[in-house]
Amino acid sequence: FNLKEHNTFGIDVKCRRFIEFESVDELLQIVNSLTDADKPLLVLGGGSNMLFTADYEGTVLHSAIKGHVAVQTDEGIMLRCGSGEVWDDIVSLCVSNRMYGAENLSLIPGDVGASAVQNIGAYGAEAKDIILKVEAVDLQTGKMCEFTNEECEYAYRKSKFKGEWRNRFVITYVTYKLSEVFCPCLDYGNIRAELEKRNIKVPTAEQLRNVIIDIRNEKLPDPKVEGNAGSFFMNPVVPKAKYEELVAWFGNVPHYSVDDNNEKIPAGWMIDQCGWKGKSLGKAGVHSRQALVLVNRGGAEGKDIVALCDAIKRDVKDKFGIDIVPEVNII
Ligand code: EPU
Repeated sequence: FNLKEHNTFGIDVKCRRFIEFESVDELLQIVNSLTDADKPLLVLGGGSNMLFTADYEGTVLHSAIKGHVAVQTDEGIMLRCGSGEVWDDIVSLCVSNRMYGAENLSLIPGDVGASAVQNIGAYGAEAKDIILKVEAVDLQTGKMCEFTNEECEYAYRKSKFKGEWRNRFVITYVTYKLSEVFCPCLDYGNIRAELEKRNIKVPTAEQLRNVIIDIRNEKLPDPKVEGNAGSFFMNPVVPKAKYEELVAWFGNVPHYSVDDNNEKIPAGWMIDQCGWKGKSLGKAGVHSRQALVLVNRGGAEGKDIVALCDAIKRDVKDKFGIDIVPEVNII
């Protein structure tokens, strides 16, 4: 089965078997009929955070569980969504139906299931801020289970599903807790400036969504035009003393404060400073408007992207003394 249409990098690879399921019952049946010959198993959502470096010699499971149900409670609106829903369709639905809290996560590629694995984040918001509950099927026991937000141990671009529980659970539903009151989060980067440009003083949720979409479209390449998986690296967290050392060497260093002792340094800025922005190595390249994004210039194989990744990591280490780590799952 060809996976080219199932990974946004557009890498031309195959898997032995590809199984799609539309309901929990169907998934349970499949899981309980899999044999050792079908293994290993890989759960794939929209494929927007994956880099395949070879054919996958196993079975790929893909959720096509659709649907959403909203329930109003005293604590807010509980929106339960099938893991196979496209994430941005859900954001759009929320914004047009007065369910607030997801607007800053507009236009992030991928499915609902992946939002709970990756803890997707952008423009001052993270999925963990609105995830209430995650339902899944355990591939080890073949049984249904559910997790609270705390049990998922969310952190920046991290969850237990991405760490200790990797490839163990197939997410079936995610319940988000949204608000009927719109409290816009406008503090990140250039959101306010972009609103001002459009003469918007107090944005509606729709206007905020549109501004986020414009900012993303301006900076990030469309995977349909040029294969990519969004940010290739995570932004490293460094001790404050290291950050101060960088300021002494390089002057103005962009940073996000993590806590009293740590700062997050944008990997994109460091890669840019190393001169990589817009450059290529073979068929793999660095996006010209956001150096954090590696792109498939056409016909690249996974190993071409990995070679570029390694060259960049080396240069960032040499120049800044910092190790940067891919956020993309390399398979
Ligand atoms: N910068 C440069 N050159 C570059 C890229 C960035 O100098 O080529 C500087 C910018 O000028 C800015 C700073 O670095 O001062 C931060 O840049 P930006 O606001 O674009 O955000 P980021 O830290 O590079 C993160 C997320 C993005 C998310 C944006 C907005 C990670 C790994 N990435 O990028 O997420 O959209 O913030 O919130 O945390 C994704 O995960 O796929 C993704 C796009």
